[in-house]
Amino acid sequence: MSRGTYHITTFGCQMNARDSEKLSGMLTAMGYEEAETEDADVVIINTCTVRENANERVYGRLGQLKNKKKRRPGMIIGLCGCMMQEKDEAERVRRNYPFVDLVFGTYGIWKFPKLMQQVLEGGGQVIDISEEVSGEADSLPVKRVYPYKSGVNIMYGCNNFCSYCIVPYVRGRERSRRPDEILEEIRGLAATGVKEVMLLGQNVNSYGRGLEEDIAFPRLLELVCGVEGLERIRFMTSHPKDLSDELIAVMAREPKICRHLHLPLQSGSTGILRRMNRHYTKGSYLALAEKVRGAVPGISITTDLIVGFPGESDADFEDTMDVVEQVRFEYAFTFIYSKRTGTPAADMPDQVSPEKIRERFDRLLARVQAIAAERTLLHVGETQSVLVEEEDGHLEGYVTGRLSNNMVVHVPGDPCMIGRIVDVRLDEAKGFYYLGHIV
Ligand code: SAH
Ligand code: SF4
Ligand code: F3S
Repeated sequence: MSRGTYHITTFGCQMNARDSEKLSGMLTAMGYEEAETEDADVVIINTCTVRENANERVYGRLGQLKNKKKRRPGMIIGLCGCMMQEKDEAERVRRNYPFVDLVFGTYGIWKFPKLMQQVLEGGGQVIDISEEVSGEADSLPVKRVYPYKSGVNIMYGCNNFCSYCIVPYVRGRERSRRPDEILEEIRGLAATGVKEVMLLGQNVNSYGRGLEEDIAFPRLLELVCGVEGLERIRFMTSHPKDLSDELIAVMAREPKICRHLHLPLQSGSTGILRRMNRHYTKGSYLALAEKVRGAVPGISITTDLIVGFPGESDADFEDTMDVVEQVRFEYAFTFIYSKRTGTPAADMPDQVSPEKIRERFDRLLARVQAIAAERTLLHVGETQSVLVEEEDGHLEGYVTGRLSNNMVVHVPGDPCMIGRIVDVRLDEAKGFYYLGHIV
């Protein structure tokens, strides 16, 4: 019997996306059915706080939800995720948004059924942002968004404390899951038809630290490659400081590992990198990228870049532009530095002026996009294997799929092909994606 409907909105990264699948699984187990919109009995927003604008979007949305709740008095509104793990934000909700029924953070996901019970029993707003870690978070029921691909947490938290970043404060200390547990989860996924997994961690290259077993990330990858039925393996994110030769060798050797490395650079300036606490230099990054390209033919390297870190001079910015020119990223996500209270960078002098940042950002983005389009052109005429992911949102009679190198292709096809791996000829490049046909 249905108990009502639910809707979850997810901001932020793959970690949050995976957490939302767990929330979805728990709500389904409680008897709720998923609704397409926020006109639902339970509405949850899973928040991100990595940059300031992510926060403002959540509060904007809460205004709309307040009106919906007026028309639907029994509605339960829940906020969770990284932003709620911050004490000040949870406090702001307690003070100013009394119509929010439930607040919990990244630690509390496994307590969700209990917290929901408390809400249903009445007695006012329930807030739980305690930092209690539990292995139960690993074995929660999951309702996946995609039947054929899945994220898999291999580690939680982060110990790197890059000076601009709030993640270590809201996701806690780094902890790796045991390899046998990870493998069991992936075998289970493969048995239900999952073709592709994305191994998730803030810095997968430090996987294994603190475990009893003597295991590092390259070995884990090899073990995952051995899972029968699984065809593709991705991972996110690789920190350049810990990327080992073994990892490059395993990527070169194992055909199941996708030809894609997301390797966040953040800045091309050695001085800025030092103040970001990144533990690599412009030169060592360039050498690493070259080594990867040399060892794994056809690999695409993507990155994250921050513009306007405190004290970034014209010369520092030119270093970033220079690395972009030299590495020729298949794509780069560009971000304007966002001051996060409580991080060391927030107190650094010489915050760069907004005009200067805008100018740099626009220049960088233009180059990133032009280079990405050139990189896309390189594969036109090739035939590559493609995982068909979904119906094309724009072209009638087309489906959309992904190459091993993470680029996207649109091909004429039927929705019944979704989840299949097919060979596709890449006929034409359209900016960052291809038009092709199945051969
Ligand atoms: N663990 C990953 C990154 C997670 S956050 C890594 O180390 O690469 C994703 C991206 O958000 C980062 O790579 C960074 O480019 C960006 N980011 C993080 N904090 C930021 C801030 N304060 N301002 C702007 N961008 C930020
Ligand atoms: Fe943030 Fe750095 Fe950790 Fe990535 S590695 S989550 S950027 S602190
Ligand atoms: Fe955002 Fe939290 Fe991910 S802050 S980027 S959702 S780890």
